Amino acid sequence: MPDSAGVEASHARWRARVQQTLERALPEPQDEPRRLQAAMRHAVLDGGKRMRPLLVYATGATLGCDDAMLDAPAAAVELIHAYSLVHDDLPAMDDDALRRGKPTVHVAFDEATAILAGDALQSLAFELLVQAPAAPDVRLAMLHELAVAAGVRGMCGGQALDIDATGRQISLAALQRLHALKTGALLRAAVRIGAIAAGVDAVAMARLDAFADALGLAFQIRDDLLDIEGDSATLGKTAGKDRAQDKATFPALLGVEASRRRLDELAVAMSEALEPFGAGAASLAALGRRAIARDH
Ligand code: IPE
Ligand code: IPE
Ligand code: MG
Ligand code: MG
Ligand code: MG
Repeated sequence: MPDSAGVEASHARWRARVQQTLERALPEPQDEPRRLQAAMRHAVLDGGKRMRPLLVYATGATLGCDDAMLDAPAAAVELIHAYSLVHDDLPAMDDDALRRGKPTVHVAFDEATAILAGDALQSLAFELLVQAPAAPDVRLAMLHELAVAAGVRGMCGGQALDIDATGRQISLAALQRLHALKTGALLRAAVRIGAIAAGVDAVAMARLDAFADALGLAFQIRDDLLDIEGDSATLGKTAGKDRAQDKATFPALLGVEASRRRLDELAVAMSEALEPFGAGAASLAALGRRAIARDH
């Protein structure tokens, strides 16, 4: 069984691989149009926990897939995520000035450039994924996952629900749905895409779905708690924004203690879902624990 040093080494290797893939996929800063290219690089490189690419690699590794098959899918999911952050921070959305310890793209550049950078990062994700070294049916299945997770039935739909819920009370069921779409969908896609690349069967996919659903919800509950309990320097983004903007969050609806208890339940759900994979899922299980225990 990979010990914790082995897990850390795998994560470090995957972080380096995705970094290299992203550097290669992004346009060179000297290319025209330079402002847009520079904004795209600002959004993607240097910063970010790379949780979604790590999930792609760790899921693939759980099922015995080589890293080289997972580079393009892992980077593609991170590009969609980076785009979602650029647009999430826009004045028309959360109006944030700090992201990944740096000024947000619309602050460092301008609003039009930030909108275009998000758009172009989204296109680049699909351009990269279409070139993944996989059989055509596997590539098609991965593209379908990412397209659905990014769109109205995934992240964009969740962001629309988030905006709609701002400043008003919604039910717990509505909040869970909002979180499952705005954050859960892309995390789930990361797991499913890693599994598809590895040629997963239906039984294993159902278990991985259960893991990913618990992880997705836990990740956003932790994000909501960190907005209250974290500080901007550690988070690399502005703390205390959710209350200031009267956002629909778990702690706002249930309180901090009940939110923490929900995280404990989700931790159990995650380990139960991965149990059948045994020691082979150590790197993936570690990501589940990190989603809950992280400090940024
Ligand atoms: C932040 O995501 C937005 C949410 C979906 C909660 P991350 O916490 O993964 O942000 P980075 O990629 O590390 O910057
Ligand atoms: C963002 O949720 C989810 C996305 C789709 C980007 P938040 O608005 O809570 O994310 P942060 O706190 O700004 O990173
Ligand atoms: Mg938001
Ligand atoms: Mg935000
Ligand atoms: Mg948040």
